[in-house]
Amino acid sequence: EKAGYEHFMMKEIQEQPKAVLDTLNSVIKDGQIDLSELGLDEEEIRKISQIYVVACGSAYHVGVAAQYVIEDLARIPVRVELASEFRYRKPILDPNGLVIIISQSGETADSLAALREAKSKGIRTLAIVNVVGSSIAREADNVFYTLAGPEISVATTKAYSTQLIAAYCLAVQFALTRGEITEEYYTELIAEMQTIPDKIRKVLADKERIQWFAAKQANAKDIFFIGRGLDYAISLEGSLKMKEISYIHSEAYAAGELKHGTISLLEDNTLVIGVLTQADLYEKTLSNMVECKSRGAYLCAVTSYGNYSMEDTADFVTYIPKTDAHFATSLAVIPLQLMGYYVSVAKGLDVDKPRNLAKSVTVE
Ligand code: M6R
Repeated sequence: EKAGYEHFMMKEIQEQPKAVLDTLNSVIKDGQIDLSELGLDEEEIRKISQIYVVACGSAYHVGVAAQYVIEDLARIPVRVELASEFRYRKPILDPNGLVIIISQSGETADSLAALREAKSKGIRTLAIVNVVGSSIAREADNVFYTLAGPEISVATTKAYSTQLIAAYCLAVQFALTRGEITEEYYTELIAEMQTIPDKIRKVLADKERIQWFAAKQANAKDIFFIGRGLDYAISLEGSLKMKEISYIHSEAYAAGELKHGTISLLEDNTLVIGVLTQADLYEKTLSNMVECKSRGAYLCAVTSYGNYSMEDTADFVTYIPKTDAHFATSLAVIPLQLMGYYVSVAKGLDVDKPRNLAKSVTVE
């Protein structure tokens, strides 16, 4: 079943190019995104006044990325909420809003309850779900199926990657329909999305270097992930992967927040992983990394090819191919998944079934 791999997680990491391609192919027809099966016609897309993305864990991290991408491209205000908070805080929902529930399993208790809460208020719901026929898929008004195939490892990888693709497709199509982007940019964005599978393959080809680096971090006590904008969204996911399967305490911070507390935690050789894929924020995060270094941190950076000056500051740099800034999350997450995986392997832990965790959390 593991097709020759030692763990399901590695098998699923390697399946990402195909999972992403299948998901893209399910909605891109003749170079256009077709959302007609989601029951969202142009009229309705134009009417959306507010989007609420509600989810748990990694699916919530997709929501954080989706917020940046949808707001930037489609200019629709987006709120992202943890399902366990949303369901109990008596949310005030705009009747012309759209609630998007994201869930791999479609069975997460809090996400299902949040969906029911939204439905009881008469607001339109759309679920991004991987498991066909699951409770969330059955109850939502409409479903965008991710085509990741069965995911066995508790730590999500390929489902996360396909959820991101679903979010990009919504953002790009909403942007065109609402007149926020030109036809030309729309075509470019779609063409760029179609290059993601190959670019993921490229990042995966560099896995031995990451394995080497990760093996040296097995004794780390704390790891900090920092980034700005979409790089903050990726940091959240990188940090969760790390703590979930390697049992190393780790935190993700918006890089600008370091000075507001966190930096006092840095000691000699504390590992700080900076994510720098957003050109307009590069210098800002770089200066935060320099600050960490001067407090003794050991620095790793994930950045795009071309940013070679990063090697003057960081102790270890891993590069991702260039892409449209909105889609960089899909590439930068790969080295972070690999780091979590290889640290866990180096520590001899049960990668696919980390202690105290379940694949699908059906109790609140
Ligand atoms: O099945 P779901 O996508 O609703 O699950 C949500 C979270 O439980 C899940 O993403 C969890 O955080 C993963 N174990 C992370 O790798």
